[in-house]
Amino acid sequence: MSDSPRLVTCGLPYTNGSCHLGHLRTYVPADMYVRYLRHRGDEVVFICGSDNHGTPIVVSAEAQGTTPAELSQRYHDHFDATFRRMNVRFDHFGMTDGPTNHHRTQSMVTTLEQQGHIYRERIQQSYCPNCQRFLPDRYVRGLCPHCGAEARGDECDQGCGKHLEPGEIREPICTVCNTPAEMREQEHYFFRLSTFAPFLVEYLEGLQGTANARNYAQGWVREGLRDWCITRTLDWGVRYPGRDDLVVYVWVDAPIGYIAFTEEWAAAHGTDWRRYWCGGGSITHFIGGDITYHHCIFWPALLKGAGFGLPTAVVASGMLKVDDHKFSKSRGYVVWTNEDYLDLGLPPDCLRYYLLAHTSHTKELNFSWRAFADRVNNELVNTFGNFVHRALHFAHTRFGGVPPNPPRAEVLEEIRQTVSAIDEAMESYEFKAAVDAVLALASSGNTLIQSNAPWKLIRTDRDAAAGVIADALQIVRALAVLIDPVMPETGRAIWEMLGQPGPIESERLEDCTRPLCPGPIGMPTPLFSRIEEKQVAALEAILAARVADADSRSCEPSPDEPLLSVEDFSRMELVVGRVVLAEPIEKSKKLLRLVVDIGSERRQIVSGIARHYTPEELVGRDVVVIANLAPAVLFGVESRGMILAAGDEASLLVPLRPVPPGTRVR
Ligand code: 2FM
Ligand code: ZN
Repeated sequence: MSDSPRLVTCGLPYTNGSCHLGHLRTYVPADMYVRYLRHRGDEVVFICGSDNHGTPIVVSAEAQGTTPAELSQRYHDHFDATFRRMNVRFDHFGMTDGPTNHHRTQSMVTTLEQQGHIYRERIQQSYCPNCQRFLPDRYVRGLCPHCGAEARGDECDQGCGKHLEPGEIREPICTVCNTPAEMREQEHYFFRLSTFAPFLVEYLEGLQGTANARNYAQGWVREGLRDWCITRTLDWGVRYPGRDDLVVYVWVDAPIGYIAFTEEWAAAHGTDWRRYWCGGGSITHFIGGDITYHHCIFWPALLKGAGFGLPTAVVASGMLKVDDHKFSKSRGYVVWTNEDYLDLGLPPDCLRYYLLAHTSHTKELNFSWRAFADRVNNELVNTFGNFVHRALHFAHTRFGGVPPNPPRAEVLEEIRQTVSAIDEAMESYEFKAAVDAVLALASSGNTLIQSNAPWKLIRTDRDAAAGVIADALQIVRALAVLIDPVMPETGRAIWEMLGQPGPIESERLEDCTRPLCPGPIGMPTPLFSRIEEKQVAALEAILAARVADADSRSCEPSPDEPLLSVEDFSRMELVVGRVVLAEPIEKSKKLLRLVVDIGSERRQIVSGIARHYTPEELVGRDVVVIANLAPAVLFGVESRGMILAAGDEASLLVPLRPVPPGTRVR
């Protein structure tokens, strides 16, 4: 048993949506890293689980007419199965709603209270008078107090990206019924995050992992830390100890899940989770770059306050784009792991390869089917697969197996250098550089065969030809082990075709230069299939159809389509909107400036109804809006849409029965 056991974790997926490429951008490199460490001989446990709490899951469950528990179990099973299909093999995949996590979270919160790191305070919070409840996090939307952009209750997701504390959002609106929220006082619990600033300065100095995570976190500490509200008025979540009306904020119990899942795994394997979490071991968190604040600020402070060991490294992946567009499920720029890839029979290894080889881990990755096919065809089929196949085929047809000739010293040296290059790249989490080094070795193998032409040489000097093939097979042996972390199915297939004993997982990197065991080699089968033009076109068409479908459902006028004329009535985009703000326009007796919630956004509309309505009687009213009318500027104010009204008295057209903003009028 190692003195310094390693724990590697991945950010926990929320259980309210399916697995997509954005998820895999974190999970595949983490899995590759763990497999690499194991080939190095390290003792590693790889832990993940699903994140079941928080308001998005409650809101999704309500919308689907189910319970958060049922929804969570369904998506938990989905992620578990999808990760297995992608060969992302966690040692344990837990659930944050499991009993171990409830217990561990309550115990840590109690310790934090006992240590004086938590205090109570009465704060003003958004409250929906219609739903008669407080509105935590995603139950409320409005405007960001920092930059003014549209924001969710807990995060300015469309603007500056800042975390928002309860009660901070401006012009709050209930996301369930769209009623403007009131502010009401309520008691909450706060973690004294600000007092951890000196600790964090020192901790972040020594934090390993990718520089993006450390640098951002250091900047945030320099900007100043505010205490952190760690309770929410919800039924779903981990109960705050001693309070029946509050649960802990999801960002408290989610990372504590890392500990709880280690406990579950340790209990099943007869070992002690404290080896990992109470100092002594090393902890590496793989996360998406967007949750750096939670992992580099909140989480180490919570651990420190509760007397636990601290993460050694945080490895943060860059953003994902699809066809040069910001990844967006609602706009259709998404690639679903099952539906768009695995279910079509595409091999998990090729996607793993692409995600690792396309760009550096911390850089933005712009996915396209074209780039994917080019990499598969040029690098996997033409270079890697071609070399392995040629070497094995020649060995089989001309020698029936591994020739007895020892590999040349230069070949062994080249393999050693490749292993060093990989070690160096992995040390700095440069997964692309590691994959490139493996491909360079395969390319060098191709050159070896091409320049020595063993198919000619064998006619004059059989032993020399055997020597070339022995060299090539030694490279194939190394490639099997070196590519295994990236493409485990490929590594295993090569290993089996080489007829080597034992599972490839037990092979060490330093054994790449060990001579092959002599034995027969059968007829090899190709490792990869070319992605044909027809298939690329079909994959692109699926994406294009999804984007077009999303476009047609959106209230945004598409920049590619001409705006509709008033005559073209049948093509007019009419939606129900709710007036959230109404005010007079200076120097105009007829016009009012309205801000109307049309579901997907808030529109500023200038309406000529000032003689018929006071601003007060309009706020909260449902109206019908032409959403795709060309913008116009009236009295210096831009108007993006029109409110429908009838007759000289401008009688507003309103829906007879309540429908949510954004509902199409048909
Ligand atoms: O951002 C997310 O998807 C979160 N569910 C990640 C949680 S990671 C951890 F802290 F548990
Ligand atoms: Zn409401």
